[in-house]
Amino acid sequence: MPSSPSAPAPAPLPKAELHLHIEGTLEPELAFALARRNGIELPYADEDALRRAYSFADLQSFLNLYYALMAVLRTEDDFADLAHAYLARAKEQGVRHAEIFFDPQAHTARGVPIGTVIDGLARALDGAEEAYGISTRLIMCFLRDESAESALATFEAARPHLHRLTAVGLDSAEVGHPPSKFREVFALAREAGLKCVAHAGEEGPPAYVWEALDILGVDRIDHGVRCMEDEQLVARLVADQVPLTVCPLSNVRLRVIDDLADHPLPAMLDAGLLVTVNSDDPSYFGGYAEDNFRAVRDALGLDQEILRTLARNSFRAAFLDEAARARHLRDVDAHGA
Ligand code: ADE
Ligand code: ZN
Repeated sequence: MPSSPSAPAPAPLPKAELHLHIEGTLEPELAFALARRNGIELPYADEDALRRAYSFADLQSFLNLYYALMAVLRTEDDFADLAHAYLARAKEQGVRHAEIFFDPQAHTARGVPIGTVIDGLARALDGAEEAYGISTRLIMCFLRDESAESALATFEAARPHLHRLTAVGLDSAEVGHPPSKFREVFALAREAGLKCVAHAGEEGPPAYVWEALDILGVDRIDHGVRCMEDEQLVARLVADQVPLTVCPLSNVRLRVIDDLADHPLPAMLDAGLLVTVNSDDPSYFGGYAEDNFRAVRDALGLDQEILRTLARNSFRAAFLDEAARARHLRDVDAHGA
């Protein structure tokens, strides 16, 4: 029976978002509002003109705009407002737990102290459970196209704030910047009791995924779609059930994949990989967490049971305590029952 035009959309599955750059949630409206507040002139006439610039040939062409637009983020209030805006959207998308990346070097390079960034984000995240029903974690990423020394200096600058961090990560331009470059800073992070994740196998080769596993000792791989080119690597990831935080709409917008209908997600699930679906930089890539779930459902013909598996995987892969994990898994099982 066709649903009536006024029928409410079904409630989204409860899910964890594990691959989300807070700077990539900066919507054009907020960018202009912050620019006005901080007396900054943006080189776009208005929000629509900025949106028209969201057409990317590859990861680097996206990163150029992503870093340029961060100019509007200057004060603790700016970072708190950015995080609040994300949390409000995430709640609507069924997100119950969010592990949020930030890029301190992109801010300290502009003269914004790391404490301003972390305190601003933490102010929003500390109240997130009560205000939005979302538990949160913070993951500090190192920019892999900056030097190993810069990553080490960033880690030392973050030491007074480590209690606010759950993990370190590795992002930015991948090709030519293998994980092995960051062996030392990841060892320090592990010694300090932090979890480790790294972008690998997005544009870079399977060898970078091997390095992230064997040299950085990561707990999860971000993206990882190119693992499918290496059978032995897939076997390793399956055997160890290493989670992969896949970002389908991002992969299409950054031309890692030509067409969503050709995305390897079904093959990855069939291979036994612990795959999750995430939004990466939702303001730039056309959708938040549930938008990604719906897009893969429609383009790849995934049924509700597979979507439920993806939601379950997101909690299995999250840095949660076991009681919270079990509670979320029960909520997924009960959804729509
Ligand atoms: N920083 C923000 N989004 C990214 C992505 N998709 N890959 C690498 N670095 C990023
Ligand atoms: Zn990413």
